[in-house]
Amino acid sequence: MKKGKFIVLEGPDRCGKSTQAKMLVNHLIAQGKDVILTREPGGTDTAEKIRQIVLEPGLDIRPMTELLLYESSRAQHTQEKIIPALEQGKIVICERYTMSTCAYQGYGRGIDLKIIDTLNKIATLGTTPDLTLVFLMSDKYFIERGEYLFDDRLEQEDRAFREKMRKGYLEMLTRTPNAYLIDADKNIQMIQEEVLSLITKHRII
Ligand SMILES: Nc1ncnc2c1ncn2[C@@H]1O[C@H](COP(=O)(O)OP(=O)(O)O)[C@@H](O)[C@H]1O
Ligand SMILES: [Mg+2]
Repeated sequence: MKKGKFIVLEGPDRCGKSTQAKMLVNHLIAQGKDVILTREPGGTDTAEKIRQIVLEPGLDIRPMTELLLYESSRAQHTQEKIIPALEQGKIVICERYTMSTCAYQGYGRGIDLKIIDTLNKIATLGTTPDLTLVFLMSDKYFIERGEYLFDDRLEQEDRAFREKMRKGYLEMLTRTPNAYLIDADKNIQMIQEEVLSLITKHRII
């Protein structure tokens, strides 16, 4: 039975997920909490191998193949790592989860969201976040914060694609329970305060 708490950080590349996830983990560890930090795609040896395929530059990967790779990575990660940690009462912080797949493969590439929702349910075994934080920033910061520009296949998506995803994240926010928009244009400190206040409000700590 699930005793822990599952926190997911969502949003496009470079909007500050990794930065805030690390800060949050450090904060929770300092409070003596039992917490793990993980990410998708990846998070376990098998799932990280799938990640390498998905992100390899220049590889011909069709949208449906891509979707199934993400979902297979998620199935492995959820069963091997997330569910056991939650059963042990840990706080699990995960960068990207089901919402990212809807944003990229659904709103971005046009795969039917019903198909993605079904695959998400299968891959997660019905595991849903206790709290989802959706980081969205103005597009001008995409270049500014992109010191790792064009280092993998997915970094090369264009502006129109990012706009479609942004619309998708905003739409999903209106129908996802326990999901909050974080204004990622703000400075790192202000965002951290916002994150911590939501964590407290949701009785994660
Ligand atoms: N609120 C912020 N304001 C300015 N720069 C930021 C902010 N948050 C993160 N950054 C910087 O932007 C870049 C991308 O952040 P990162 O946390 O790696 O994003 P993500 O994990 O969402 O791709 C990094 O260089 C990071 O230091
Ligand atoms: Mg990151």
